[in-house]
Amino acid sequence: MIRVTFFAGPDDPRGTTVAAKPGQSLMRAAQAADIEGIAADCGGALTCATCHVLVREPWLGRLPPSAPDEDDMLGFTAAPRQANSRLSCQIRLGADLDGLAVDLPPTQY
Ligand code: FES
Repeated sequence: MIRVTFFAGPDDPRGTTVAAKPGQSLMRAAQAADIEGIAADCGGALTCATCHVLVREPWLGRLPPSAPDEDDMLGFTAAPRQANSRLSCQIRLGADLDGLAVDLPPTQY
């Protein structure tokens, strides 16, 4: 199992840690655990940008760079894009990401 922690803003300093399966996307792991704040309207088809997350270091540096399609969609996030913005449907979880920590943006719409 891969542990992933979602932080929902300043009122959530401890975050919510969930167990994900290898090969699962971060978006699917969030949905399986009923994490609020990941809408994922398109179901991972890379057409909605409502699965926006902000990836904390050192994890950001361990992710492969965003593909051009993801990079394009990051231009459509409701909350302003940050340097550490990624789309959670495009993050594939593996043992190397055990402990991954991400912040949820204030809104997905
Ligand atoms: S779920 Fe729609 S872009 Fe990620």
